[in-house]
Amino acid sequence: MPTSPVTVAVTGAAGQIGYALLFRIASGEAFGPDTPVRLRLLELPAALPALDGVRMELDDCAFPLLDSVIGTSDTDEAFRGADWALLVGAVPRREGMERKDLLSINGGIFTGQGEAIARNAADGCRVLVVGNPCNTNALIGSTAAARHGMPADRWFAMTMLDESRARSQLAAKADVPVSDVRDLAIWGNHSSTQFPDAWHATIGGRPAPEVIGDDAWLEGDFIASVQQRGAAIIKARGQSSAASAANAVIDTVRNVAQPSGDIFSAAIPAPPSGGYDVPEGLVFGFPLRAIAPGVVEIEQGVAHGEFARGRIRATTDELLEERAAVAELLA
Ligand code: NAD
Ligand code: LMR
Repeated sequence: MPTSPVTVAVTGAAGQIGYALLFRIASGEAFGPDTPVRLRLLELPAALPALDGVRMELDDCAFPLLDSVIGTSDTDEAFRGADWALLVGAVPRREGMERKDLLSINGGIFTGQGEAIARNAADGCRVLVVGNPCNTNALIGSTAAARHGMPADRWFAMTMLDESRARSQLAAKADVPVSDVRDLAIWGNHSSTQFPDAWHATIGGRPAPEVIGDDAWLEGDFIASVQQRGAAIIKARGQSSAASAANAVIDTVRNVAQPSGDIFSAAIPAPPSGGYDVPEGLVFGFPLRAIAPGVVEIEQGVAHGEFARGRIRATTDELLEERAAVAELLA
């Protein structure tokens, strides 16, 4: 039976990720085959002609679930009534940069957008920040939105692409289908300090380290390849990941909006007693489980060894440095 339409705002909609994402949302992949979708697409004024071309292509697909499309450069109009806001619009890094080098370019975008979401979106709006550095951009956006009364627990930053990369690496090493690899959490920052936790992942229901049988690889090449995968793609393609990033957006939305009982990765503002000694408010990657549509809990009781604790400390320190660098935007 058809359900009420979901209103989805997507920023940077004429960009690379936007082009790989919108058609999949419109076809029902994010919200299910019975949920009509209203797309609200935000772009910079200079990109509106390109966005118009994207809108024409959306029309030409004649998607049965696509209720309406609005393209605009007006932030209030884009977020009006939004049930989901997917904040993709931001400058990507180039070869040789770290994602945090983008903070001075992109950070400011999220103050205005956070305020506009709080003023205009639907009461239960969920926000997924993709634009880099996504954890600290989500911190900036959620802080601005909180000044207008929006609870911070509505905000997510995307670490799902890292989870998919890590699952794919483990599946290849174990020579099993990727669907056998589960419970893989990304801790901390979507950056080269992230900690992909293979030690609590399972492969075919067994602990991943037992199946892999190569601790040196897990501690070395595995972690490094996941941490550096974004940079490797930029080097190879000359542009940052787009199709795989769009795929991770779909997976994140699906995991949050349609609880399955499975553990998945996303970064959220650390609650006061989040259980893992992460400073309150830092937007930090955790293993999450959706307990109701749009509501997640941090998986509790994950016991880390000394190696993992060191990695989690390093990624926490980096996020604290990023927070200090944008203190003016948080005041
Ligand atoms: P892109 O340059 O192809 O597209 C970005 C689009 O955003 C452009 O069309 C631009 O006009 C628009 N834009 C810029 N500022 C805007 C604003 N204030 N409001 C609305 N639109 C705005 O870049 P892309 O490849 O689509 O990547 C977008 C962002 O996503 C980058 O910051 C990139 O680093 C990041 N990213 C994150 C992940 C992740 O896993 N979290 C993965 C891939 C890419
Ligand atoms: C990625 O992980 O592919 C994105 O964050 C893009 C980047 O800059 O690496």
